[in-house]
Amino acid sequence: MNPKTNRIQNLLEFIDRSPTPFHAVREMTDTLSEKGFIELKETNAWKLTPNGRYFLTRNDSSLIAFTVGSKPGFKIIGAHTDSPNLRLKPQAGYAKNGYLQLGVEVYGGVLLSTWTDRDLSLAGRVILGGKKMPLSKLIRFEQALLRIPQLAIHLNRDVNKKGLILNEQNHLPPIFSLQKKSTPDEILKKMVARKLKCRPADIMGMELSLYDTQPGTVAGPDGEFIFSGRLDNLASCHCALHALAESTKKDSVTRVIAFYDHEEVGSETAQGAGSPFLKDVLERIALVEENSREKFLRALAKSFFISADMAHAVHPNYSDKHDSHHMPIINGGPVIKSNAGQRYATEGISSVWFESLCRKAGVPVQKFVVRSDLGCGSTIGPITAANLGIRTVDVGNPMLSMHSIREMAGAKDHELLIRTFKEFFRPTAGSKLQQGNASRK
Ligand code: CO
Repeated sequence: MNPKTNRIQNLLEFIDRSPTPFHAVREMTDTLSEKGFIELKETNAWKLTPNGRYFLTRNDSSLIAFTVGSKPGFKIIGAHTDSPNLRLKPQAGYAKNGYLQLGVEVYGGVLLSTWTDRDLSLAGRVILGGKKMPLSKLIRFEQALLRIPQLAIHLNRDVNKKGLILNEQNHLPPIFSLQKKSTPDEILKKMVARKLKCRPADIMGMELSLYDTQPGTVAGPDGEFIFSGRLDNLASCHCALHALAESTKKDSVTRVIAFYDHEEVGSETAQGAGSPFLKDVLERIALVEENSREKFLRALAKSFFISADMAHAVHPNYSDKHDSHHMPIINGGPVIKSNAGQRYATEGISSVWFESLCRKAGVPVQKFVVRSDLGCGSTIGPITAANLGIRTVDVGNPMLSMHSIREMAGAKDHELLIRTFKEFFRPTAGSKLQQGNASRK
């Protein structure tokens, strides 16, 4: 297998094993540990060594990793670990018309119709009570367990003309089984206990999400596409993670990756991009080295943040939804996203700087701005930029079917973005970055 195919296989397997942010963070911390990164705890005192490689997590669903540089400044790539999905309610189970069903909540901007008629299963975090502190365990059922069947066309004759309208409360609860003596909650608890090798009575709480059991795949006559769930935004996490892990040359600037949960619901949580997680970590890195707050603030002023999140490629059947002069195409390279309303954090200097980074890496670059008569999406970029005051660019690989249960992106783009991120983490790019930030004439 050639290394590029290998990388895409690695991406698809990573996404398949990461049906929830908890799993994604576990997968990435496993990779980081394998590559020699040492786990830190926020509750402990830190001793950091120059060129040391470290990581830490919050709520098991957000992750920061870094390699310690010798000079003030941070090169940061941020992304998010969560994807829109359906989540089980706390007391999910009920019986109706001879079926057992599970009530679900909508998490984030789900393209609801895509969750119908799929082979769905459950994954997430289970909290077990013990003699000591409660213990959390990850769980992922591999077999298909659930389905949200569409109504037959014979009973919904207008569906193709009027579109499928799904009421979140009434039409989304999946079918779990036919009615049985046990309640659905009892059945589910027993299944979870069997999988985790514990007693049903040990299960104190569950945070379970639905996911599609169909694995991701490479597609197209030349393998130019990838089809998978959660490309937004695990593909960006994968790019940044591997760029950091593979950047082993000593750099005077501290390299950081920050992956947040809860981007799809506004980021205002203890582990979201609106939290002080990253600021706390950066401050501790600076203060551990030299106990000077001024040094920390100077380090922030010498830093650069790449906010990586997937971008909208032009859809040939709906090309009028794009501004005709800003139509990113799949495998055309990473996209710089900008918005006058600052829904993206890109500004003139950060945009030019990212373009020059791509040029140095030999990577083509594209630009996106939303049609002037359409609302603009957003990312963690403006939130972290406002939190930290660090110059930021919003970029991402082009994709289609964003927020569908099964999305579509380009195999070549993935490699191009990794190459760009590795260029960012190269020692020379760091010194250029600091000069660029400092000189304002
Ligand atoms: Co996203």
